[in-house]
Amino acid sequence: MMINGGRWAWAVGLSVSLSASGGCSEEDPPPPDEPVPPVRHGLVTFEDLDPDPDVVEVNITASHDHEWELGTGMSVHALAYNGSNPGPLLEAKLGDRIVVHFKNDLKWPTTMHWHGLRVPAAMDGSMLVQDAVPPGGTFEYEFEARDVGLYWYHPHMHEAAQIDLGLYGPILIHAPGEPALALDQPLIFDDILLGDDGEIVGLDPHADEPHDTNPDEDATDRLGNLVLVNGRVLPEIPVTKGGWALFRLLNTSDARHLQVSLEGHEMMVVGLDGGFLPKPYAAESLLIGVGERYQVLVELTGEPGQSYSFVNTRYEEEDPFSTDPLELDSASAVTLVYGSGEEPRSERPVFPSEDAPDMGRGGEVAHTWELGDLFVDGEFYNSIDGQIWPNIPVQTYARNGDYTFEIKTSDDPHPFHLHGNSFQVVEVNGEPVDLRAWKDTVTVPPNTTIRIRAPLDNPGRWMYHCHILHHQEEGMMAELVVE
Ligand code: C2O
Ligand code: CU
Repeated sequence: MMINGGRWAWAVGLSVSLSASGGCSEEDPPPPDEPVPPVRHGLVTFEDLDPDPDVVEVNITASHDHEWELGTGMSVHALAYNGSNPGPLLEAKLGDRIVVHFKNDLKWPTTMHWHGLRVPAAMDGSMLVQDAVPPGGTFEYEFEARDVGLYWYHPHMHEAAQIDLGLYGPILIHAPGEPALALDQPLIFDDILLGDDGEIVGLDPHADEPHDTNPDEDATDRLGNLVLVNGRVLPEIPVTKGGWALFRLLNTSDARHLQVSLEGHEMMVVGLDGGFLPKPYAAESLLIGVGERYQVLVELTGEPGQSYSFVNTRYEEEDPFSTDPLELDSASAVTLVYGSGEEPRSERPVFPSEDAPDMGRGGEVAHTWELGDLFVDGEFYNSIDGQIWPNIPVQTYARNGDYTFEIKTSDDPHPFHLHGNSFQVVEVNGEPVDLRAWKDTVTVPPNTTIRIRAPLDNPGRWMYHCHILHHQEEGMMAELVVE
């Protein structure tokens, strides 16, 4: 169903104002000598249970029986962390200890994964390293924040159902010396598929058994009909003329690649998945695959009363990887609304980037992962090296090396994600890339070879997989051991 047809048409063009709520922000205002906590529009915060400024200790509960308010009066039955969609923003600074008391109030087994963070392997939440947390069960996750930037948490079981039904939340880790801007705003993009009954198609959050991808189902990707930002339909973010804002973009969709631009403003990319870039660059639009992030600095040059939207120009169900412009004005995803008043203009803020060495173009290729197709009994599967999980051979590497890998697609794009370790993209189709940016997820377009370079500094058993959730569940995932 397209967004401009059927009963959801009325939602388009309406919008909802986001305000920070919940957690700390509901408490009494801080005494005057304490800094005012920054506003993250549309996101709930956690209550930090530990007064130690270097420890962030939180309770996270996953539960059913939840109405996901999409704004504009619509809501769907869903799952939630701490009763909110997205889950609360987990915010810390580099080096902090993060302690999570997780409780599973779902009827289904689940785990929590900290996408992109180099956590100890035992804390990674994949089935390689932990048993499922059963219904009613608990698990203590504890790790150090070793990476700067926007990350996210989500289940690592029955991902397609649990993430689609709303189990995901952002993690924001700040660098020492990071300039504090008036607006530092995560924008968590999602793409959900609503049916004529107004519920998420094909997934019942109250079902007794968890949903699995049905292997008899067509291997088509699940593309939604409604793009959300911070869990809402076309939310508004108030801004003030004059200063700089940092927007942190994440795509949590099931399968949709987003192509995002910002009306009337220049987007300066200052970071990708992790850390900040030594050489920020201006971008007209950004291709954001599932699981990828971009940190985008924007000078707020609009006038009071004006509005500008982040627009997803790739909204056609037929071809998510098409570069054709869209005819629908439903492509707007989130709108910046200029209030009255003005701040003085200032120099472009500079973000600390010392963590990103120049890795050159890489050396001998340790392995080439071929992301392709496999037919078993006439059924189509997305595969790695001609196999599907758990038949893909486990690779083992010594830690703290200097590894060059290639990732090669055939006719389909795949967002490739490696757990627990980060890498730099150093070549695309033989052309050098010199961004010196840490990534953990990379969109590999159709018929493309991407070369990455990784130190593999985090020992353990790690999954790597396509982050299109049905591809992953169907077996486009494998294990790599760092010794
Ligand atoms: Cu977002 Cu296996 O992860
Ligand atoms: Cu894929």
